[in-house]
Amino acid sequence: MARRDRRWGMVALVFVAVLTPGGAASAAALPVVINTWAFRTAAETAWRVLESGGSELDAVERGCGQCEIDQCDGSVGYGGSPDERNCMEKIFFGAVAGLRRVKNAIGVARKVIEYTKHTLLVGESASLFAVRMGFPYEDLTTQKSLSLYSEWLNQSCQPNYWKNVVPDSSKSCGPYKRPEKVTYKEEQTSSQRSVHNHDTIGMVVIGVNGTVASGTSTNGAVHKIPGRVGDSPIAGAGSYADSTAGGAAATGDGDVMMRFLPSYQAVEYMRMGTDPTVACQKVISRIKKYAPKFFGAIICANTTGSYGAACNKIPGLTQFHFIVSSPLLSRPTEQAVDCI
Ligand SMILES: *[C@@H]1O[C@H](CO)[C@@H](O)[C@H](O)[C@H]1NC(C)=O
Ligand SMILES: *[C@@H]1O[C@H](CO)[C@@H](O)[C@H](O)[C@H]1NC(C)=O
Ligand SMILES: *[C@@H]1O[C@H](CO)[C@@H](O)[C@H](O)[C@H]1NC(C)=O
Repeated sequence: MARRDRRWGMVALVFVAVLTPGGAASAAALPVVINTWAFRTAAETAWRVLESGGSELDAVERGCGQCEIDQCDGSVGYGGSPDERNCMEKIFFGAVAGLRRVKNAIGVARKVIEYTKHTLLVGESASLFAVRMGFPYEDLTTQKSLSLYSEWLNQSCQPNYWKNVVPDSSKSCGPYKRPEKVTYKEEQTSSQRSVHNHDTIGMVVIGVNGTVASGTSTNGAVHKIPGRVGDSPIAGAGSYADSTAGGAAATGDGDVMMRFLPSYQAVEYMRMGTDPTVACQKVISRIKKYAPKFFGAIICANTTGSYGAACNKIPGLTQFHFIVSSPLLSRPTEQAVDCI
């Protein structure tokens, strides 16, 4: 309890009231935890970790890890298609991709930070690393993942991520091959990702002294091509954290978004003094220029505890929901922004 009191005492010290240009008073305080989508139990877990004296990275690991246990929205944890994670604190970044048969993937990402000089481990060897670090091998198949797969087979493997192959991937299942003669179709930049597939939890934690940590956890795209690695384990794409500027985490169509390093870019905007909401919006606008119909959103927070979010407006996604925890809010609170 003493520890908790001290923490809240410090919170009062770093409280800053901000007068926004519009005149509406908004306030910032530390610590702050912000995560994508309405994944409340993840937020609660991260907040509890901070309250009990855990580090910012502990909070990110346990918060995102909660989604691996709960299968937030049925799409983040095991039971889907495995598996990529990252976590980052200051300049320390650890990530795994293509992990198989290991449930607590963000825990493995953290072990990459703690016990190796590497940054990213992938595939079967990443799974062996996990076992060496003491994580159990488990069968992650669920009834839901099995029926999802057989439904997909039954509808001629639609949708999928192939293009320009034979047989025609928009009509039938594979195995696909290169055609004799290629007639390239114009690339679809519209998203096949369902807006209901809230596939990624991204989290940013800023501690009382401004230490920034971030993390993401996802199963990756449903029905992806084996070997595909998305944005989540890529530094600066899925998330980014820099204790001299801020943190950001992205969610959505990783195949498109990772080409823009959106989390890195958002943090760089904040480093230049850009308001977190504006930083998030600038990143979304930049991607939108090339891929008007992409499905995606991003959360941003700076080192003094101001935060914001932005999303690309497409049919089915006009608002983006996220959860914020801070000493100014009595409990983790769902907030929303209108997409741009
Ligand atoms: C900030 O907090 C972190 C975690 O609580 C701690 O490890 C670090 O030493 C602190 N840094 C400073 C400058 O107080
Ligand atoms: C496959 O789809 C058809 C209709 O499109 C349906 O009648 C049939 O029950 C489905 N089979 C399975 C195994 O889901
Ligand atoms: C964080 O953002 C707020 C709101 O735009 C701003 O007032 C504050 O100065 C920023 N903090 C830093 C460290 O840039």
